[in-house]
Amino acid sequence: MRVSNPYRPGFNQSPAVLAGRGEITEAITEAFHVAALDGRTPRPILLAGSRGVGKTVLLERARQIAAEQHAWISVSVEVHPGRPFTPVLLARLAEAAQLYDQAPPNRVDWRATKATITASLAGIGGQAEFTRAAAAITPREEELETALKSVMKAALPLDAGLLLTVDETHLATEDELASLAALLQDAVTKQWPFVVVLAGLPSMQDPRRMVTYLERGEWHNVGLLASTDTHEALTGPAAAAGRPMDQDAADYLTTASGGYPYAIQVLGHHAWRASSNADQISLTHARDGDHAAQRDLAAGLYSARWKDSSEREQEYLAALARLVIAGGHPIGADVARTLGQRPSAVTYLRARLLQKGTIYTEGRALRFAVPGMAAWIDSQPLD
Ligand SMILES: Nc1ncnc2c1ncn2[C@@H]1O[C@H](COP(=O)(O)OP(=O)(O)O)[C@@H](O)[C@H]1O
Ligand SMILES: [Mg+2]
Repeated sequence: MRVSNPYRPGFNQSPAVLAGRGEITEAITEAFHVAALDGRTPRPILLAGSRGVGKTVLLERARQIAAEQHAWISVSVEVHPGRPFTPVLLARLAEAAQLYDQAPPNRVDWRATKATITASLAGIGGQAEFTRAAAAITPREEELETALKSVMKAALPLDAGLLLTVDETHLATEDELASLAALLQDAVTKQWPFVVVLAGLPSMQDPRRMVTYLERGEWHNVGLLASTDTHEALTGPAAAAGRPMDQDAADYLTTASGGYPYAIQVLGHHAWRASSNADQISLTHARDGDHAAQRDLAAGLYSARWKDSSEREQEYLAALARLVIAGGHPIGADVARTLGQRPSAVTYLRARLLQKGTIYTEGRALRFAVPGMAAWIDSQPLD
């Protein structure tokens, strides 16, 4: 019997097992308790991390907690480059107010799935309308406050509140972030049950751009998974789907993934496919799956990261890749030497690549987020 593949390769796909994020989900759960039980507005939660570490799925988890544990409605916005998110946020808040207005007084009757409203700017209006909206926008603090007030007016008699999630926050302008911060400060004064979770690339932590109020929020770095958590993320879905993964297969895939959540799902997916005729996933299946997964990652992740790097950054990556393949634990000074430069002359490259999440440090050693990227870079024709 064909069992469908339990891994979820690709962005915005919630994994079957959300491994290694206990601390963050607890922080989110706690924020709901503060809002729903203590009657205070919790500090905003901010999730910063590079692409593919699982920020968006954590926002989804927050919406799930809101709906399932508290029967709260969620409003979600995703920021897109060069477009304001406030118009959509206003529209979604109005919808949320309406939903609460229409809700049966007994919240036990609600269906959890109905308690989520997701908005993406792309879905609304046309491109032309957006350009006009963009030109017309000024920070609309009062409008936002009025809109949130309507939601609260409808929610409070039901003993409910509101979750707001904002994804790709690093793309938001300072003006819009300032309006959002003002909205939150207003909610704090009124002690509204309002939980806010923001996610974005590490660049959103830049103090020159981040508004002070949000800076004082509760920050969490979303990073690579530890190896025990990676193991769990790999073995959990297979076991639940009835085709368990052997220990050595899981060890092999754990190493290959580097603990990078996106790669974990791609590797799991291909190992599952490679084992379609078996009743468990063996080391051989893991190896075969790894080959297919590396092709998959090369076409997507590796080349995207490579193209996203400047010429200097590419030189840095190529030098690092050579050193890694030669089998050592290169540190920044080794890469500089290979490039024939003083370390201080190339630390900015190291810093940029770390910020993007293409590489990371383990002690002083530099590593690729996904180990296979070193071999891929090394196999690239030089031009
Ligand atoms: N904690 C986790 N355990 C296992 N897989 C995860 C975890 N978090 C995310 N993933 C997987 O990683 C991929 C990227 O997740 P996503 O939330 O889109 O990342 P981001 O928003 O940070 O770019 C998805 O395939 C998802 O299933
Ligand atoms: Mg995302």
